[in-house]
Amino acid sequence: MAVFHVIISLVAKALFFLACLLLLLFLGYCLYIKYIHMKYDKIPGPPRSSFLMGHSLMLLRIVNSDRLVHEQFLEWAETYGSVYRLNGLHYVYLIVTCPKATKEILMSSKYLKDNFYKKIFHLFGERFVGNGLITAQNHELWYKQRRIMDPAFSSLYLRGLIGTFNERAEKLMDKLADAADNNTEANMLHLLNCVTLDVIAKAAFGADLDLLTNKSPIPKAIEACLKAIMNLVREPAFEFNPKNRQFIKEVRKACRLLRTTGAQWIQKRKTAMQNGEDVPKDILTQIIKTAATDENMTEEDEELMLDNVVTFFIAGQETTSGKLSFCIMELGRHPEILEKVRKEVDDVIGMKQDISYDDLGKLVYLSLVLKETLRIYPTAPGTSRQIEEDMVIDGVHIPGGISCIFDFYVTGRLERFFKDPLKFDPDRFHPDVTKPYYCHYPFSLGPRSCLGKNFAQMEAKVVMAKLLQRFDFSLVPGQTFDIQDTGSLRPKSGVICSIKHRK
Ligand code: HEM
Repeated sequence: MAVFHVIISLVAKALFFLACLLLLLFLGYCLYIKYIHMKYDKIPGPPRSSFLMGHSLMLLRIVNSDRLVHEQFLEWAETYGSVYRLNGLHYVYLIVTCPKATKEILMSSKYLKDNFYKKIFHLFGERFVGNGLITAQNHELWYKQRRIMDPAFSSLYLRGLIGTFNERAEKLMDKLADAADNNTEANMLHLLNCVTLDVIAKAAFGADLDLLTNKSPIPKAIEACLKAIMNLVREPAFEFNPKNRQFIKEVRKACRLLRTTGAQWIQKRKTAMQNGEDVPKDILTQIIKTAATDENMTEEDEELMLDNVVTFFIAGQETTSGKLSFCIMELGRHPEILEKVRKEVDDVIGMKQDISYDDLGKLVYLSLVLKETLRIYPTAPGTSRQIEEDMVIDGVHIPGGISCIFDFYVTGRLERFFKDPLKFDPDRFHPDVTKPYYCHYPFSLGPRSCLGKNFAQMEAKVVMAKLLQRFDFSLVPGQTFDIQDTGSLRPKSGVICSIKHRK
């Protein structure tokens, strides 16, 4: 009995000791947060709603109420100026809209991508975009890949892709012709998602998905992964909530599907190369070149190739389909702009079926319309960098050791950069109009800017020019013009259109 009492008393003491230790650790952590607050609170920012959680609960509430978090960032940028601070636990984030600092930070390779990019290396333990082009933080690792990938995006190589863009866009025209003949409504976002995925699969990997006709699990897999990224950003403990188990399983399966599909394409291409076949110098060939030759190939080299296949799937599709859908939505709301851009297409393309590379350069007003679309709807809405050393932004002293967010939605809609910012006015980008510098950069800026910018511009112009050439479209009444944030921005309604053949 005495032994029993001794054991009980020892356990009680141990528990008491553990509780004291935890309390001390917690107090220590609180002191550390206090120190962080004291260090960074000279930077302006909205009041925190919680000492511990900073602004994160407020932001979580906004996201869960289906409001756009970028709207809140915009409101704060109007109130707190060109650099302001947000807190969450011991982390500090800056939202920067100051053009001078934007130039200084984004144009330099000194400022590395911040730890957000680490979060999507894996999704729930399954490797996703890993160390691919978008997420690689280490400069040397990124630069090695970018240097090898560049030729697949040279204007010479892109010229050769015009046939693929025409051919895939024709399939969309066939679908729209069906909708016009049968008087059925068209969900433009869905159709454009199929086309942009078809284009990237064909142009980058030489694969025929033909998603407007065939069923494939790939679009659903991409959708699941994008949803997972949003969930991870919004809810750090998402993975540990038992009610999410089924979804997590689905996401892991989706990652595996994207990577095994990539592995099959790589293997097929390698075999063709070994057999001395004439292979295109496309993105897949360049991806294979980023890895060592077979004898020296490490497991990490293999993984890196798959990282980039997944990266191009994700980077090359959603952003462009979103941009096209928003463009159609705005043209549907502005008949006078629609008329003007249609006239330009008629003048440049006329009745021609195939659009040439040189035609694209002549579609000047269409370029302005697409630029204005990305100003109001930057489908890839931001980027972030780590600031390690102290610096001064717009007169505010910034101690090093924090993340800096550049939100393209905010800069595109700030009255101080764009007068009457919500007005859709493509002429803001007319070459004769003076434009504010380092305020509109939807493809990001500097060394880590979008590698696929020209690819995306060509693709968008081919699709839009054919659509305007062949069809009259109008927005079905009653749909919302709201924006949905799935990591990239897309129109919530899907942009439902009635389609008619042009007379
Ligand atoms: C409207 C369409 C597009 C928009 C708005 C867009 C925007 C962006 C932005 C903002 C970044 C920087 C991302 C970051 O810093 O986190 C980026 C990077 C990138 N984009 Fe795009 N993108 C588009 C289309 C494409 C397409 C079609 C491709 C491929 C064919 C592509 C490939 C890439 C790649 C590889 C990177 C990483 C570049 C690097 O860090 O070296 N993008 N894009």
